[in-house]
Amino acid sequence: MILTLEWTDEGVRFLDQRVLPLEETYVLAKDYNQVAEVITTMVVRGAPAIGVSAAMGVALGVRQSKAADLNALKPEFEQICNTLAGTRPTAVNLFWAIERMRQRYLALAAEPGATVQSVAQGLKEESLRMYDEDIQACREMGAHGASLMPTDGGVLTHCNAGALATCGYGTALGVIRAAVEQGSRLRVFADETRPFLQGARLTAWELMHDDIPTTVLCDNMAASLMRKGQISAVIVGADRIAANGDVANKIGTYGVAVLAKEHGIPFYVAAPWSTIDVQTATGEDIPIEERAQVEVTHHGGKQLTPQGVGIVNPAFDVTPAKYVTAIITERGVLRAPYAESLRELEPAAL
Ligand code: MRU
Repeated sequence: MILTLEWTDEGVRFLDQRVLPLEETYVLAKDYNQVAEVITTMVVRGAPAIGVSAAMGVALGVRQSKAADLNALKPEFEQICNTLAGTRPTAVNLFWAIERMRQRYLALAAEPGATVQSVAQGLKEESLRMYDEDIQACREMGAHGASLMPTDGGVLTHCNAGALATCGYGTALGVIRAAVEQGSRLRVFADETRPFLQGARLTAWELMHDDIPTTVLCDNMAASLMRKGQISAVIVGADRIAANGDVANKIGTYGVAVLAKEHGIPFYVAAPWSTIDVQTATGEDIPIEERAQVEVTHHGGKQLTPQGVGIVNPAFDVTPAKYVTAIITERGVLRAPYAESLRELEPAAL
């Protein structure tokens, strides 16, 4: 299995996704500030992986605390959480994971005889549980979603929603993997996904690792392939799903969804429940990260654009729910109207 991230005695070890597929190297984050840095610089990326990384960052921060007692730990704990929460704004899994760690911290600190060390141990165990649950959720998404994939045909995906974006197996790529395991003869088309090239570099690398036939296309080629009948379904991941079913995902996803509708191709989103944000009413309210201009102006250290030209670099866009055929979660498959199907699977949430 691809080891995207793992807890070790020395710190959290990350496969460096900035240099794949040409180099398979690892970065060891020895303290919570380094975990924050690793998330910001996209050594690790993908909503579920970011969430679990932040949880491990919290555990690491508390383990290294020099606080004499639980009272002294309190402000330090908040500082750790705030630092990790300040890394990337769009993937709600980050905030979900930090909140879960906060709740666990409060419960552990309230236990009779609790010490800084016992809280640190409990938080480490919680982050490891989240790691295992993430892989389990991906497997369950695969089980729910596999039958939605064509038994023989082309499936387009955008960005990387695979093992590299999770603790293993993947969301959208997990559904593809499950369909292949059940005997479907899928050919995956991976949008290159400018500017960070998650499709060209990461999706292609991990699917080739599993011997799943994969073809990379430039982002502007999808329409033409759809028109030629080469794409039978689209499946992507998500960074945040609003209460009405609007989906924030990697920039370019919205365009793919509109194209799919125009060509009568189903457009699926696969995401764990931790990506659903019922506190956010619609996609309009989802914060979209704007990243550094250099990601667009340069590639491999080489300048592509004229000096001083205007640049935009929103990392995500929002696909309105009306373009989404179904949302595949570990709890089941949601269909429109999404506010209702969300309520059915989690009645207390809305
Ligand atoms: O900027 P990234 O690479 O973190 O963006 C990742 C995506 O947009 C993924 O599609 C999303 O996080 C789902 S990953 C299972």
